[in-house]
Amino acid sequence: MTRSPITRAMIPAAGAGTRLLPATKVVPKELMPLIDRPVIQWAVEEAVASGVEDLLIVTSRGKSLMADHFDRNFELEHLLESRGKTRELEAVRAVGEAVRLYYTRQAEPLGIGHAVLQGASHIGRQPFGVLLPDDVMTGPSPVWGQLAAHYRPGVCVVAAMPVPRAEASRYGIATGTMKGGVMEVEHLVEKPPLKDVASDPAWALLGRYVLDEGIFDVLRDLPPGAGGEIQLTDALAVRAGEGRLLAVAFDGVRYDVGDKLGYIKAVVAAALAEPDLGPAVSRYLRELRESDLP
Ligand code: G1P
Repeated sequence: MTRSPITRAMIPAAGAGTRLLPATKVVPKELMPLIDRPVIQWAVEEAVASGVEDLLIVTSRGKSLMADHFDRNFELEHLLESRGKTRELEAVRAVGEAVRLYYTRQAEPLGIGHAVLQGASHIGRQPFGVLLPDDVMTGPSPVWGQLAAHYRPGVCVVAAMPVPRAEASRYGIATGTMKGGVMEVEHLVEKPPLKDVASDPAWALLGRYVLDEGIFDVLRDLPPGAGGEIQLTDALAVRAGEGRLLAVAFDGVRYDVGDKLGYIKAVVAAALAEPDLGPAVSRYLRELRESDLP
């Protein structure tokens, strides 16, 4: 396992989750379950497995259930204990124990860059991580830790994945030469129009970042970007212009669980990976394939 010297990270979790409405009208999208763990817990566990010890979750109005999820629930623990449900009890207790969790709120939906700025005083002047929980990442080692292994003072590091040019307008797109899985990013644009994307595939940024301590100053000076929001990608574009941005082609798979199809894929993959469940799910998928699907 890759452990990082960077021990602070942030999870922006203030977004509305409009692509999964009405399911996300009351339940925050980050609490949608992937089998028996909500989406945000996957990001928390990835951060912890990468060496993060202090994690700030940026929430918004109506999303306090997330804090409840990571809190102790003595009544439930007592019930499980009295019924001898040891495995469930351990799972429930482990949820909030692995890391120091802090919460702050983003009062207005002004973008990921703005959400990150809400953590400036908590993080202080030190490098830190950002994990977007909509991007569920699995791999042979924790993906954020893979990025942190490439950190050196003064640079930022982002996760990158090749995507077909036709899909490039959904992502932050990096240009530069990828060598041995690492690119010194020359140019970076948030959700560019297709006419501005020359390469196929294109290198898309995904929601894992290692940011240098100066990034807050860059974010504070940014004008609104794509969608009228303060974009983290625009701050990173400044770093790219200074030759201080690395993009890492991580080893793993990413699921966009804010999207219906991505969510279904993540649920199936998570089920297949569970020792107790995987073989039965695999059999079911085979049955489905052999039946007359619509
Ligand atoms: C965010 C980032 C974008 C990145 C994407 C990956 O966009 O702004 O650069 O490519 O996550 O999931 P969002 O999907 O929040 O619009």
